[in-house]
Amino acid sequence: MATAPTAPPRTTGNLPRVDGQLKVTGTAIYTSDHNLPGMLYAVPVCSTIANGSITNLDVSTAEHMPGVKAVYHRKNIGNLYRTTPATGFHAILDERRPPFEDDTIRYYGQYVAAVVALTYEQAVAAANAVKVTYASEKPDVRQHFEADPDAKPRVASQRGDPDAAFATAAVKIDEIYGTPVETHNPIELHASVADFDGQNFTLYETSQAVVNHRNVAAQMLGVPSENVRVISRFLGSGFGGKLWPWPHCVIAAAASRNLGRPVKLVVTRDMMFQNVGHRPRTQQRVRLGTTADGKLVSLMHDSLNHTSILDDYRENCTEATSYSYSTANLRTTMGMVRRNIGTPTSMRGPGAVPGLFALESAVDELAVKLKIDPVKLRLLNEPDKDEGLNLPFSSRHFVECINTGAEKFGWSQRNPAVGSMRKDGLILGWGVAGCSWGARRMVSEATVDLHNDGSVRVSTAAQDIGTGTYTVLSQIVSETTGIPHHRIEVVLGDSNLPPGPISGGSCSTASLVPPVLEAIEKAQQTVFMVAAKDNNSPFFEQKPDALAFTNGHVHFKNKSPDTGVAFEDILQSANIRSASGEGKSDAPDHKFSQHSFGAQFVEVTWQPEIARLRVSRVVTVIDGGRILNNVPARNQIEGAVVMGVGMALFEETNYDTRFGAPINNNLADYIVTTNADSPQIDVTFLDHPDTVVNALGARGVGEIGLAGVAAAIASAVYHATGVRVRSLPIRIEDLLKEPREVVI
Ligand code: MOS
Repeated sequence: MATAPTAPPRTTGNLPRVDGQLKVTGTAIYTSDHNLPGMLYAVPVCSTIANGSITNLDVSTAEHMPGVKAVYHRKNIGNLYRTTPATGFHAILDERRPPFEDDTIRYYGQYVAAVVALTYEQAVAAANAVKVTYASEKPDVRQHFEADPDAKPRVASQRGDPDAAFATAAVKIDEIYGTPVETHNPIELHASVADFDGQNFTLYETSQAVVNHRNVAAQMLGVPSENVRVISRFLGSGFGGKLWPWPHCVIAAAASRNLGRPVKLVVTRDMMFQNVGHRPRTQQRVRLGTTADGKLVSLMHDSLNHTSILDDYRENCTEATSYSYSTANLRTTMGMVRRNIGTPTSMRGPGAVPGLFALESAVDELAVKLKIDPVKLRLLNEPDKDEGLNLPFSSRHFVECINTGAEKFGWSQRNPAVGSMRKDGLILGWGVAGCSWGARRMVSEATVDLHNDGSVRVSTAAQDIGTGTYTVLSQIVSETTGIPHHRIEVVLGDSNLPPGPISGGSCSTASLVPPVLEAIEKAQQTVFMVAAKDNNSPFFEQKPDALAFTNGHVHFKNKSPDTGVAFEDILQSANIRSASGEGKSDAPDHKFSQHSFGAQFVEVTWQPEIARLRVSRVVTVIDGGRILNNVPARNQIEGAVVMGVGMALFEETNYDTRFGAPINNNLADYIVTTNADSPQIDVTFLDHPDTVVNALGARGVGEIGLAGVAAAIASAVYHATGVRVRSLPIRIEDLLKEPREVVI
């Protein structure tokens, strides 16, 4: 169902990353690459218990060790403040507490002190010499939630009478699904380099949101936000883990404030399993009730996730549930349980990704029970609007996604009988899932400066986490002005620039299109005004609306661009350095339900003789609006599918139940998908513009590719083996369980 008008035709680009050369030559400067004169190194001391309190902190040895400048802790770090609930521009999360606020230990690895020294090695040695005595209690890091009295689920979406409809439904599914803790693990470690000059803080940060970071840091340090500048020019990814400023940032800033010297703090890989968020464990009950022929009459989805002792983090698992299928009766709830684990945070596709594992697995189980093809079952329950919000979709092409995917995958060849399909001596399993993710536009600003040397600068306080923001902005400017890429400078990652969007929620591109287009338009208008005032110009005293800007040249609208004058000549003639324009996107439109959609088709191979399971093939079809650049967009989806294989088969952070420590806190023991595990991936974009989101119809594709992958894999595994795994990751041990459920 397409409701949005058609966008003006534009070429879809295939421009390689404009920052690619900087990255592969090692010239791109990442946060921890900053080495400032007189810089000191901070190393945190991490709690070795997960629940209890500090009874004594002895720094007497540490503070006299070579090179040590200070050992900070609760009593000497100086004033640090809590943040207020989110009110500011692009505020992401609400109240947070500064480090070292009290002597209570609430999770393993909590920072209890920090050493600052002349070298990193001296700081590490002294941090190891800080003697901390604790009163320890047994931590609660339990995985299962059902007996938890504090969960207090709240209703997220409700319509009709789902309990009554379920009670009388002809066919029912009622199952519990689980997803484990996953840790983000971007290759670039989290880091801060803080530089206080006596009045202002310059903070080089690994941040997906420099504007929010500045506002939070200003609150915690107790200074006006104009006294804080946050810089994050390049990121070695983040996956959501770098959206929020974590306690180490405040420790580095406070240390620089106290010592009057720049301070670098790099969070180590093992600390990243403790102190900078993770995707929380979820436990989700899904109830589906249908008529005998598969029409959904009731859908209930109750989700629980763990959070930390002090912070409320809700994993919005039911977000996609209320609009994915048509049903008159639905209820979704979300609850939290507290554990002695650091605060969870957004991880690629937060909510929808674990939520769709549960929902789409349940839909597959329903298809098996109904003996209906799972593609057909989804088509049978396709909604014609968002029934949760009672709003039309801005643009939903899920039916085309699933039909196109089925065609490309060869789904019509599927024999639904478990273990019935073979190829090259291997058992094949085929599975399918639908997916979706929100399409958002945040209020954002950008500036475009046309310079008198023929170059152009576009700037906004957004970030590029590796997804291609530099490239897409260069492309928009080039396509709109005709100025070639080598004369375009894109400036991002600095909170002093006009406020831009977070690099999160797959919303950067969608948010930046309107302000950048407007800024280009206004900068061109400025050139027209300059030309009209310059009596040397052929456009002297012409009205701006008689003029046009094509291929970097100003010309009369009714004449060929070849007759025009280069914009830099107009500026030079008038002795003007730059013609600037500013753009600002308006608030998102709430008259539509705005989402991207997709379908994931998966093939697994299973060799029962040696218990080897492989994901061999994935066909993914994405309705992500107009795709502005196929190169980074395809790369996002491929990366997400690879991550989906990890979610389904490998990724899980394990906590020691005695001490509460994450025990597989390194890249050897935390298993992620390698090249050898990666399937053949076939990505198709439908490329239907969604002009409700912006004039180019572009949404964003950073997260949608991960949604649904794990459910499609679990369904393929069932089809191959007869074993339905409802708790991720799927282990070989799960597949060896006897007796097997046999369903024909
Ligand atoms: Mo994404 S989890 O919004 O960086």
